[in-house]
Amino acid sequence: MKKEKFTLPSGREVERVYIKGTKVTVKVLSLGATVEDITYEEGNGDRHLVLGYEDKSLYETNPYYFGACVARVGNRIGGARFTLNGKTYDLEKNDGNNNLHSGKDCLCFRDWKISTVTDNSVTFEIESPDGDMGFPGEMHLCVTYTVTEDDALIIDYEGKSDVDTLFNPTNHSYFNLGEDTTILSGMLKVDAECFTPGGKESIPDGDICSVSGTPMDFRASCKIGYRIDADFEELKYTGGYDHNYVLSHKDVCKRYSQENMDVFFAAELHDDKTGRNMEVYTSLPGLQVYTGNFLKGDVTGLKGEKIPHRGGVCLETQYFPNAINVPRFAQPVIKGGETAKSRTVYRFS
Ligand code: BGC
Repeated sequence: MKKEKFTLPSGREVERVYIKGTKVTVKVLSLGATVEDITYEEGNGDRHLVLGYEDKSLYETNPYYFGACVARVGNRIGGARFTLNGKTYDLEKNDGNNNLHSGKDCLCFRDWKISTVTDNSVTFEIESPDGDMGFPGEMHLCVTYTVTEDDALIIDYEGKSDVDTLFNPTNHSYFNLGEDTTILSGMLKVDAECFTPGGKESIPDGDICSVSGTPMDFRASCKIGYRIDADFEELKYTGGYDHNYVLSHKDVCKRYSQENMDVFFAAELHDDKTGRNMEVYTSLPGLQVYTGNFLKGDVTGLKGEKIPHRGGVCLETQYFPNAINVPRFAQPVIKGGETAKSRTVYRFS
């Protein structure tokens, strides 16, 4: 573990922590509890496996949510409104008529406090007052990043609120394991038989569709670019993959499970040319596959290059988008006084 401090042009102080496995190094920032970089050591140098900004001041507004710890609630809430225990709450409409990633005041833009560091882990904490971003309850949130000897980045989320509220944090890292500037040649496998179509506004309404016979099918490893522009309504709406998959949770992974929390295989990303690989495991029911369709070549990345359209893929583990408005989906609700936990693992080789 190494720790350093730097100051942004705005005068904001940021702490950066390096945590290392055998070949993987993860850099995390106190600003947003953001994953700034994940590198893989190869004979001839370190390779970046995620997208990040060259200009660190961009993390203050993080326009593309690079490496962001999105909390309290990741993804969309339809109509920017929900009802909990008979009371209706209004959120910011920052995505058309809907709320995306908790709005412009998301915890991913705030300063988190480093509470614990060990040789290979760091824990960030933040207090979120009652009514923050429109959500009920005074909340205490923690996120712990740990890198293991076998090069897994384990992300543990914890939240506690004084009254019932929503809790659905996710990590928004964009992965690109290869040397191509886009993710189209990446091979992706997702352990899901179904996805939740979102229609024109990407708001699932309870429909659950089979991936079978559609370009949404990643049950067997398939090139991301192979069917991304297929004539398929759901893909046309979003200009590429930007959908929630219903994870099968068929294969429990005991290695990364904890006593009271199992994690299951969710996805695998592979780069054929370099052989680099990433497995994803999670305790959560959903996975948003987002292929960077809104990236537009206007920011410079960690390799000094402009990051193009579809420059990386996010594999965001989560409760389903808009779940709070769809009773048949598992609810991202935590009870007042109880601690909610989830775990997601990205393992590199
Ligand atoms: C969403 C995209 C959105 C992106 C913002 C993703 O989680 O699914 O629709 O544009 O976040 O970076």
